Amino acid sequence: MKTTAKAPTNIAFIKYWGKKNEVLRIPENDSLAMCLDKEFTVTTVEFKKDLKKDQVIINNQKAKDKEKERVVQHLNRIRKIAKIKLFAKVASQNSFPTAAGLASSASGFAALTLAASQAAGLELSEKDLSRLARLASGSACRSIPSGFVYWQAGYSDKTSYAYSLYPPSYWDLRDLTIIVKSEKKKVSSTKGHQLAGKNPFLKARLKLVKSNLKIIKKVFKNKDFSLLGQVIESEALSLHSVMLTSQPALIYWQPTTLAVIHKAIELREEGIVESYFTIDAGPNVHLICQKKGAAKLKREIQKVLGVKKIITNHPARGAHLINKHLF
Ligand code: PMV
Repeated sequence: MKTTAKAPTNIAFIKYWGKKNEVLRIPENDSLAMCLDKEFTVTTVEFKKDLKKDQVIINNQKAKDKEKERVVQHLNRIRKIAKIKLFAKVASQNSFPTAAGLASSASGFAALTLAASQAAGLELSEKDLSRLARLASGSACRSIPSGFVYWQAGYSDKTSYAYSLYPPSYWDLRDLTIIVKSEKKKVSSTKGHQLAGKNPFLKARLKLVKSNLKIIKKVFKNKDFSLLGQVIESEALSLHSVMLTSQPALIYWQPTTLAVIHKAIELREEGIVESYFTIDAGPNVHLICQKKGAAKLKREIQKVLGVKKIITNHPARGAHLINKHLF
């Protein structure tokens, strides 16, 4: 059977950095994220009798080496659960510019998990899909449920998965993804997580994460935007403190990254638009704001020298099946 799934990427407000278990991708801490509607992956999978090996096409190009290997490994996990031996044809397409330094593994592996498991005849629950996606890419487990999602770190394969805290309609937030550089990052997040494990500053960060998690749960109950912003920025800066003090140091920021941060702070302090920044393992900045002011924020940030593109996202639905196949 040919099956197609669509999955959003997600931006973490409380981030995951460092793993308790490398193979099972059990994170050091719980994390909380928002699924993004304009940055998504669509993936079609079909297991076929006439194939001699898996065929993987990503953004209209044949995948090879490590990129293909990661997809094949995930297909192997699914074949094992479904007890099938057939090879698959996989085609995958990202909505956002390729190699823009945006997190495609979260949406990519969430879409692959849903499409391939269904194509293999499995009917997995949301929890099991999230657990399975986690094995391919940690943050992918947060792209299975909808809206504002919580990944409970857990302590084993069974207990580590993400679920929806609130649906997309709960809070009309915006994420402006500010693309400042289009090259692929030199150090992968997989390597970054390993380096964090050896960093003495991780302990201090994990303490802060614990208290930020408590605060953010209350923030969501009360929809307190200013406090949400404070938590998001403190979180991102503590994450980058660990990255900067790793050996070797992970310096993901570019001059434009800092220029965007300063501009957002300036606009906020002058009472023009209230927005708060967060940054993943790369140079691009995510500015979180409310519906009111989003268009103005985009216009102002567009003027910062070095900004290439801005994508405005709303909270999104998680991974789901669609009828339009890619082949
Ligand atoms: O899932 P990975 O290995 O791509 O790691 C994601 C790490 C961050 O994006 C930096 C943080 C997060 O929680 O998304």
